[in-house]
Amino acid sequence: MQHADIRKHWEDAAPGWARWEASISAWMEPATAAMLAMAGIDTGDRVLDLASGAGSQTLAAARLVGPQGQVVANDISDTMLHHVRENARAAAMANVSTLAGAAEDLDVAAESFDAVICRLGLMLFGEPARALAVVRRALRPGGKVSLVVFTTPAANAVMAQPMQILLRHAGKPPPGPGQPGIFALGAPGALVQLLIDSGFVGVEQRSVALQLSMSSAAQTLTMLQEAAGAYRAVVSDCPEAVRVAAWAEVAELLKRFDTPTGFVAPTEVLVAAGAKPA
Ligand SMILES: C[S@@+](CC[C@H](N)C(=O)[O-])C[C@H]1O[C@@H](n2cnc3c(N)ncnc32)[C@H](O)[C@@H]1O
Repeated sequence: MQHADIRKHWEDAAPGWARWEASISAWMEPATAAMLAMAGIDTGDRVLDLASGAGSQTLAAARLVGPQGQVVANDISDTMLHHVRENARAAAMANVSTLAGAAEDLDVAAESFDAVICRLGLMLFGEPARALAVVRRALRPGGKVSLVVFTTPAANAVMAQPMQILLRHAGKPPPGPGQPGIFALGAPGALVQLLIDSGFVGVEQRSVALQLSMSSAAQTLTMLQEAAGAYRAVVSDCPEAVRVAAWAEVAELLKRFDTPTGFVAPTEVLVAAGAKPA
């Protein structure tokens, strides 16, 4: 997929992503904490947040670096970055700025960041290795990159099964090896190897079990439909009847996760980090 197509899918999803940010941020909280800890962020640091979305993890990093530090939020979607700026303003945080563009093409000064973070972004990039080359150049020697990706379809049925349904209705194959997708970097060892191949040292990873807790399957369906750019993209070019049938089947599937106390689904992410050689 070309950058222009990826940008359009996420531009379309950005208002929905911003609307559901609190739910996504609550779901991701343990992974965000691990990502920030493994990035080794200190007071006064300069941090680059790739594929920031509406920026809940940007603001978490900005709290860590404090007023003397700075966090630059990057995203391919201008509308996402508009939400980052609005959220930073609402939180009275003056240490957040934004930088639009594909992560693979970013032209930032060499050795100008102490840490780089990326939550749920790298696996969706057309060229993750090229993005990591940008990261390596942007980091100061000894600076760390810390990333969150989904693990496997088996550990994330609530993510994998709706995707399979949408692909089947759209008559599209799942992404092949090396192509972007929600599970593109989730196989055991894949992300660690990519970091090592990209020249990072001291690479470590943790798998983090998460629980997606929502009020109901119906609410989860709306979140997927409104916020999830990678899902919306699968059926966006299909006739309306196909889209309706596909989402109706997803709605049925999601009901399996309804419990007497609400919607509960186990999910799993990998948090991996490595340092630029000192
Ligand atoms: C699943 S969302 C994650 C957003 C945010 N990091 C979070 O965890 O809430 C993926 C984000 O990646 C952005 N994105 C996709 N491809 C990109 C690329 N090549 N460069 C920069 N951002 C990209 C999208 O616009 C979207 O905001």
